[in-house]
Amino acid sequence: MTVLDDLSTGRAENLAHLADVPSLRFVEGSDGDTDLVDRLVSESDVVMHLASAVGVQLIVSNPLESLLKNVRGTDTVMTATARRGRRLLYTSTSEVYGKNSTGALSEDSDRILGSPFKSRWSYAIAKGFGESMASGQHRTLGARNITVRLFNTVGPRQTGMYGMVLPRFVRQALADEPLTVYGNGTQTRCFAHVHDTVAGILALLGNDEAIGHVFNVGDTEEIPIIELARRVIERSGSSSKVELVPYAEAYDDGFEELGRRKPDTSALQELTGWAPTRTVDDAIDDVILHERSREGAAVGT
Ligand SMILES: NC(=O)c1ccc[n+]([C@@H]2O[C@H](COP(=O)([O-])OP(=O)(O)OC[C@H]3O[C@@H](n4cnc5c(N)ncnc54)[C@H](O)[C@@H]3O)[C@@H](O)[C@H]2O)c1
Repeated sequence: MTVLDDLSTGRAENLAHLADVPSLRFVEGSDGDTDLVDRLVSESDVVMHLASAVGVQLIVSNPLESLLKNVRGTDTVMTATARRGRRLLYTSTSEVYGKNSTGALSEDSDRILGSPFKSRWSYAIAKGFGESMASGQHRTLGARNITVRLFNTVGPRQTGMYGMVLPRFVRQALADEPLTVYGNGTQTRCFAHVHDTVAGILALLGNDEAIGHVFNVGDTEEIPIIELARRVIERSGSSSKVELVPYAEAYDDGFEELGRRKPDTSALQELTGWAPTRTVDDAIDDVILHERSREGAAVGT
């Protein structure tokens, strides 16, 4: 297996525990590098396109760079996989549904995007481009493309630096600092443990009937963000308090919040039999364990 990553937001240390796996090769480089991508695709049987500028904070503060990087990388990867006839799994996002907060969103639910002048939506625009390219290639070229729309996925090794909420809360709790909840905290999200997300992705990747289709992958249990913060405090034994921060202070201009985002995962379940095996509390515990071990390693060095 070859991993291509430019380490712009990822960390090489995330692969340290796999250092002894002889079949794993790490290549540092960009998914927009046409020659490199084409060569790596030619050497592979299947391709998972995960690379992306991610994180609301990063997207809102660097909208143009994020947009162009995501579009160019996706174009480069999909052009190579279609040309080489390789099966491709493309990771899109629940962000493509935009402000649609009507309940459990199914794959054919409407997209309700805010103004393109609001930088938050540049990520959804880039991911929507990828989805259209994947389905267009399938229809016109017979490309074996599968698209997954990931809803919030959390777990060990995720960074809180670019807007991901759970690792940020855990670090704040372990430092006994206030857990900063943006807005009034009543906005809800559904958090899937990374183990369940990976199981869903792999089940689809190996299923011929998934080709040419789009699937939501995520947990369906909704939790208000303020409740997530309280659970992190409780489960880590922290003395932290919750602090509400207005959106205008938390983000640059160009941010819009959404009340709720919940997936309908029946298409994935019916095709593969997938079901989540871990709860949000399991994810919180695993992130706490991981962050404590990082702190311990840092103290020991
Ligand atoms: N984690 C989630 O909740 C979530 C939700 C929706 C969609 N997704 C999608 O899933 C995929 C994986 O996300 P993740 O949460 O593992 O994020 P991540 O930040 O851990 O992984 C993305 C990786 O892409 C790399 N990268 C960025 N630009 C690159 C480029 N031009 N060339 C090569 N590498 C590049 C980064 O260094 C990083 O390691 C992304 O496509 C993301 O849009 C994730």
